[in-house]
Amino acid sequence: MTRQEEIQKLKEEKDAVILAHYYVRPEVQEIADYIGDSYFLSKKAVDLPQRTIVFCGVSFMGESAKLLNPSKTVLMPDAEADCPMAHMVVRETIEKARAQYEDLAVVCYINSTAKIKSWSDVSVTSANAVQIVRNLPNQHILFIPDRNLAHFVAEQVPEKQFVFNEGYCPIHENMRAAELEELKIQHPSARVLVHPECSKEVLSLADYIGSTSGIIQFAKESAAKEFIIGTESGVQYALQQARRDAVFYFPKTEPVCTDMKRITLEKIINVLKYGTNEVHMENGQADEAAKQTLTRMLALA
Ligand code: 13P
Ligand code: SF4
Repeated sequence: MTRQEEIQKLKEEKDAVILAHYYVRPEVQEIADYIGDSYFLSKKAVDLPQRTIVFCGVSFMGESAKLLNPSKTVLMPDAEADCPMAHMVVRETIEKARAQYEDLAVVCYINSTAKIKSWSDVSVTSANAVQIVRNLPNQHILFIPDRNLAHFVAEQVPEKQFVFNEGYCPIHENMRAAELEELKIQHPSARVLVHPECSKEVLSLADYIGSTSGIIQFAKESAAKEFIIGTESGVQYALQQARRDAVFYFPKTEPVCTDMKRITLEKIINVLKYGTNEVHMENGQADEAAKQTLTRMLALA
């Protein structure tokens, strides 16, 4: 039996469904039941009939799925796969801003721990942040943890005042504008599609800025045949499937999220077989508050 067949058999035996982010390895995306960006996956997690969710992604994704589905079993193929940015804010930053602005909304990117979500008012993803922030009644916004997405949203919503935090995604932050400029010179007719977790210099080179799903959708609908992509290279799998006729160029220093790449077929087989790496939440007040920030997002998006 191949590993793919073994996963299929185990999924049926265990009544399990596999969710995968676009940044995981191609062979993992290939066996997933649903592939998507953070927003799609958080929405999907709430309307699945299966009793077990295997989440091929990093820990904040598993936590969110468990918070939204406390009665389900959520399994992480690799318990160590974590997003460094998800930890990049301290409580004092939030308390200080709350003390300073009476009408403050604490908006937290879904790439954050459950604890950080519990200190916040509403979650957002890169696919819905602009829309949600624009429609909040609050005038002052503390956007955590990602400073790059925060600045991008602030530019789109100039009527509000933002307080920024110094978090960042090391993979997107590391992307060099000079490498994209070089690609633009080599491929002058290519469209440049970039994720808002990138720096301002990289964003300034883009024809389109959006979440991973947004980038894929743009490529799908575009008449262009060449694209320069400014996000984690795992999206290449879905891009190539969406546009078999197109060519996608990535920066010379390949943007690779090593945490997402920890997920392998062997690890999926293991958790399905033995039920290991189950996500447990305490279901206390903090988790209830974290769940509220997520359900607010789902209601507002
Ligand atoms: P999206 O899934 O919202 O595009 O975010 C990318 C990301 O970095 C997820 O960790
Ligand atoms: Fe976190 Fe960046 Fe990896 Fe996404 S790509 S999981 S934001 S480190």
